[in-house]
Amino acid sequence: MRTRLQIAIDGPASAGKSTVAKQIASQLNYIYCDTGAMYRAVTWAALKEKVVLDDDAALAQLLSHLEISFVPQKAGQQVLVNQEDVTQAIRTPTVSKHVSTVAAQISVREALTAKQQRLAVNGGIVMDGRDIGTTVLPNAQVKIFLVASVKERALRRYREDLAKGFKVDLQQLESEIALRDKKDESRAISPLTQAEDAILVDTTSLSINQVVDKIMEIIKKK
Ligand code: DC
Repeated sequence: MRTRLQIAIDGPASAGKSTVAKQIASQLNYIYCDTGAMYRAVTWAALKEKVVLDDDAALAQLLSHLEISFVPQKAGQQVLVNQEDVTQAIRTPTVSKHVSTVAAQISVREALTAKQQRLAVNGGIVMDGRDIGTTVLPNAQVKIFLVASVKERALRRYREDLAKGFKVDLQQLESEIALRDKKDESRAISPLTQAEDAILVDTTSLSINQVVDKIMEIIKKK
């Protein structure tokens, strides 16, 4: 493969995007960029600074002194906010619960979209999120829209949270995921939606390896 491609992987929460995107980036020796981690990092900082989460002006002010950086690691990436390691802190149920509200604010979307476009400018990147194929990288050569049923996604999040030592209720997770989908799909700016030229991959009954193989086949045809 001569050209270093832009690969966009979008889809709802817990559809398997980050696991799959990491493996594809590693196979191709590309950069992996988890854009959800950026929205989570802003949410973590806003909660810490007690910024009202839907106050766009206050969030713009917060963003002006927030430096979010990724340090590539063997198993993914370390996330830093103003040099502080927040890799674990941005994955708590509290951040998950509030991130959709922050991600709906225009100043946050504009700042993070610009940052993501800068990261992808030379290609050789697998970027996962909600609006990569539609807004961030509309000219990406490969666009995948990854989905799975709400039940299956809640179960995956449940297992992940348990492994991290969080006590969670499966039923509650299911309704939180459904609510997050609704918020992500219905927001005014860059809602979660499948790009017209994206390929739909349903992961409900597929293993991670099967999904990775399927996407690698699509990439090889480019
Ligand atoms: O993929 P995730 O669960 O870590 O994403 C966290 C939130 O960030 C999710 O609720 C929607 C938002 N998000 C977004 O709006 N746009 C992106 N490109 C990535 C994530």
